[in-house]
This record gives sequence, structure tokens and C-alpha cells, in this order.
Amino acid sequence: MSNLVAYFSHPDPFNPEGDGESEPPSGYVQRDGSVIGTVQVMAGVIEQVTHASSYRIQSKKIYPSNFRILEEITKGEKARGDRPDLREPIPDLSSVENVFLGYPMWWMDAPMAVYSFLEKADLSGKDLYIFAAQADYGLADTLKTITEAAKGAQVNQTPLAASCFSTVEQLQQEVVSWLYRVNS
Ligand SMILES: Cc1cc2nc3c(=O)[nH]c(=O)nc-3n(C[C@H](O)[C@H](O)[C@H](O)COP(=O)(O)O)c2cc1C
Repeated sequence: MSNLVAYFSHPDPFNPEGDGESEPPSGYVQRDGSVIGTVQVMAGVIEQVTHASSYRIQSKKIYPSNFRILEEITKGEKARGDRPDLREPIPDLSSVENVFLGYPMWWMDAPMAVYSFLEKADLSGKDLYIFAAQADYGLADTLKTITEAAKGAQVNQTPLAASCFSTVEQLQQEVVSWLYRVNS
């Protein structure tokens, strides 16, 4: 039996200093000169601690890094309840026991591709643990909507909601202590 981290993360690789129009970019951390999403950092910690394999949930179409355009596209996707096609096929889940599902909050919801994943992946009989990054607005109803979408999975009701303003070290500590909490 094994563990899987399935996560969505959309760091802004091209514009780490902001575009001058929107708020300063949040949800990215710089490490070794490259930009890594908050969820990506959290997923990496879970991978290491639980010896999990990982699957990155990505829409087939590439999202822009410009926030204004991203805003328009992603608000439209949410309003329509889109289920974007995924770039990579869902991995074989037959021997997976625990799934750690990570996502950034987008418009008080998970990105629509996360629901594409949940509707495509057969998670029945598996334990699902939710971790998310957000800009201090919390998880809204996503624990409920994801619990409903993850048919047949047992969804742990203690999700982790980390702040995108955390440092890498803070994220590491938060994730590790959350893993202990949900495991005990
Ligand atoms: C399109 C978009 C919508 C967002 N909507 C919310 C929101 O509704 N609530 C919130 O707390 N943060 C919101 N955020 C902030 C992200 O959740 C936060 O930056 C997160 O850390 C991004 O994680 P990532 O870098 O791994 O993709 C939004 C960010 C983006 C890009």
C-alpha cells in the first residue's frame, strides 16, 4: 500500500515582482532562484515525510501568468463549473491507500481542474487528506464540495489551510505537525 500526493499549483514564474497593477504576487516562494508555488512546497514536504509518489494536477491548456488574464479565465471557469481536460493521465491508483490532495484557493473554491481530477480518479476505499494554500480567506466550502466530489473516499475532516505568506520553513513545520495530527 502506498501514498500519493495529488496537487495543483500555479506559481507565477515570469513575474515574481508583480505586474504593477494587481497586488504584489502572493503564493510564491523563491528558492535557489526559481519560483515554487506554496502548494508545491507543501506537496514536497508530504512526499518526503510519507514517502509518497506525486501527481501534479494540470489543465491541458496553459494558464497565463498575467494576473488580470488569469483572473478572467479562472472566474469564467468557476462560473460555468468547467471541468478542464487534464494534461497528464491519472496514475494507477490501485495500490494507493492514502491520497493527499493539495490545491490553492481560487475564488473561494478549488481550481476547477481539481474537480476534473476528483471526477476522473477512482478514490473509493481510499483515505483522502486535504491541504490548501490561501491568502488568509480560508477554505470556504471546499472541504464539503471536495468530500462530495471524492465519491467513495473517506475524507479526513481536518484539512490544512496554510497561508501563502508563510516562509518555506513555516510551511515545512505546519505540514509536518499537520501530518502528525491527522495520523494520530
Ligand atoms: C486566480 C487566483 C484566485 C485566488 N483566489 C483566492 C481566494 O479566493 N481566497 C484566498 O484566500 N486566496 C486566493 N488566491 C491566493 C492563492 O490561494 C494563493 O496565492 C496560493 O498560495 C497559491 O498557491 P500556489 O502558488 O501553489 O498556486 C487566489 C490566487 C489566484 C492566482
